[in-house]
Amino acid sequence: MPQKDPKSVSERFAGKGVFPYQMAFTLLIPLRRLLLSPATLIDRLDLADSYHVLEIGPGPGYFSIEAAKHLPQGKLYLYDIQQEMLDHARRRLVKRGYTNVEYHRAGGARFPFADNTFDRIFLVTVMGEVANRDVYVQEIARTLKTGGVVSVTEMKGDPDKLEEGELNALFTAAGLEKYRQYRTFAGLTVNYKKAA
Ligand SMILES: C[S@@+](CC[C@H](N)C(=O)[O-])C[C@H]1O[C@@H](n2cnc3c(N)ncnc32)[C@H](O)[C@@H]1O
Repeated sequence: MPQKDPKSVSERFAGKGVFPYQMAFTLLIPLRRLLLSPATLIDRLDLADSYHVLEIGPGPGYFSIEAAKHLPQGKLYLYDIQQEMLDHARRRLVKRGYTNVEYHRAGGARFPFADNTFDRIFLVTVMGEVANRDVYVQEIARTLKTGGVVSVTEMKGDPDKLEEGELNALFTAAGLEKYRQYRTFAGLTVNYKKAA
C-alpha cells in the first residue's frame, strides 16, 4: 500500500509531494482551460476510436472525460495513487454516461497491466510527484505497445514540475524516442514513442 505522506494538506498543495485529494476542486476550475484545455491536450495524443489508453495520475478527471469521449470502441484506464481521486473521477465520468473506463489504484512498483497493452499513455503534472520515477518509466515502456506513444505534460508554477532535460533523460534511458513537442507560455508536452 502507498505510504501516508506526513506533510499537511496545505504543505502538499503549496509545495512538493502528492497533490492532496482535498484540493481536487482546484484542478477543475473552468479558467484552467486558458492554460491547457482538455481538447488541446487530447488532440496531442492523436487518438483512434479503438485505442487502449492509460492515464497516470488523473486526479478528479479533468482530462479524462475528453479522453473517454474519443474512445467509443476503446478503453480508458485511470491509475492514481489516491483512491479518493479515482472515486472523484469515477463520479464525474459515470454522471456523463461513460462506461468505457477502468479504475485502478496505484501502489507498489509494478503496474497491474500486461506487456504491450496501451496505444497511448499520458500524464499531466504527475511525473514530478512520483517517488520512483525510473521504475515508473520502465513500466510505461513495458506496458506500451510497439509504436505506442507516452505523452508527458508539465505546467509552469507546479512545484513538482520537471524540466525538459530531466524528462528527456528519464524517458530515453527507458529506450523511448522523443517524437513530438508542444510548448506554450503555460507549459510543455513531450511525446515519446516506443519504436519497433
Ligand atoms: C497535480 S495532480 C494532477 C491531476 C490531473 N493529471 C490533472 O492535471 O488535473 C497529480 C495526481 O497524480 C497522482 N499521483 C501522484 N503520485 C502518483 C503515483 N506514483 N502513481 C499514480 N498517481 C500518482 C495524485 O494522486 C494526483 O491525483
